[in-house]
Amino acid sequence: MRNLPNRPVTLREVARLAGVSVATVSAVVNHKGSVGAESKRRVEDAMSRLNYCPDTLARSLKTGRSYAIGLVVPDVTNPFFMNAMSGLETIARSRGYSVVLTNSNEDAEQELQNLKFLHSRRVDGIVIDCTPRSRAYEYLMTQSCPFVFMDRLPSAEFSGRAVIVDNFGAAYTATKHLIGLGHAKIAIIVGRPDLLVGLDRLAGFRAAMQEAGLPVGDSYIQIGSLRPESGYECGMKLITSPEPPTAIFASNHAMTLGLMRALTERQVPCPERMSVLAFDDFPWAAYSRPQLTTVAQPVFKLGMQAMRMLLAAIEPNSKEAEEITDTRLILKTELLVRQSTAAPPAC
Ligand code: RIB
Repeated sequence: MRNLPNRPVTLREVARLAGVSVATVSAVVNHKGSVGAESKRRVEDAMSRLNYCPDTLARSLKTGRSYAIGLVVPDVTNPFFMNAMSGLETIARSRGYSVVLTNSNEDAEQELQNLKFLHSRRVDGIVIDCTPRSRAYEYLMTQSCPFVFMDRLPSAEFSGRAVIVDNFGAAYTATKHLIGLGHAKIAIIVGRPDLLVGLDRLAGFRAAMQEAGLPVGDSYIQIGSLRPESGYECGMKLITSPEPPTAIFASNHAMTLGLMRALTERQVPCPERMSVLAFDDFPWAAYSRPQLTTVAQPVFKLGMQAMRMLLAAIEPNSKEAEEITDTRLILKTELLVRQSTAAPPAC
């Protein structure tokens, strides 16, 4: 039958062209059941040749599901969150879900509006990387929609589903690296002390310094905003202080960019006179001059695992529900030692 313009192609037509049953086509379209590789290939080939487009609205009306996932991130301009989204979307797409992205711009009120919008869109589940002073958890508990926190927990007491890294342990290890190089005067630029990730990284830093018997003066703890300009301002304060540190630990990549600009402007060579260690690795970290020593978070995997944990909650009979039985996944970070950290200058 010639496909009339605008008349939707039917499952039956796809099945006929592929030489399989309608049930097989339906299983491929809905990512359900086990379809042999050859049958799956023939169905996908037929769908492509017929320009078949699944009628998601009809499927939603029939199943009561939207097959849409809500994703709430604090700052879409920060590549960290887009990298996490890429991992999440890879899993979502493979299982027939679309992703509705919302940006909170690091604002708790905007975050609440995003959540209400997603609930109005009847998403099947939500993954959230929350803002400082987030009230998301309290709101989400008033709804029946499954949710998973990713990267940032709403509070230290939160015990719900979450995929995070060990920020304390990662910062402790990074600081031990600087101490191991011989640094005693080490400063930290903290990212948002009203965020648990910021506090945990500061705590890891303090623990390593205390263990080594190294005091940390108040001026060596600078409060940043996670954005580049605060790294620049905090860096300037540290560089121009009466007793500058010999190493600075910046709690995220964006603030590190600002810090490096301050070092360049003040003509402080790194690492000869100042070692720099950044939390968060990015492709450009290996191409900066000097190449940056970083704590690499498995960001893409954070997104993938958050989506898999959400699938385990949405689809109780899925393989994810069998594999992911814990409500907390803590992923490993990696210290990537490059050129920006070295022994302190001779006194
Ligand atoms: O740059 C964004 C930072 O805040 C990252 O370290 C990530 O952990 C996020 O929470």
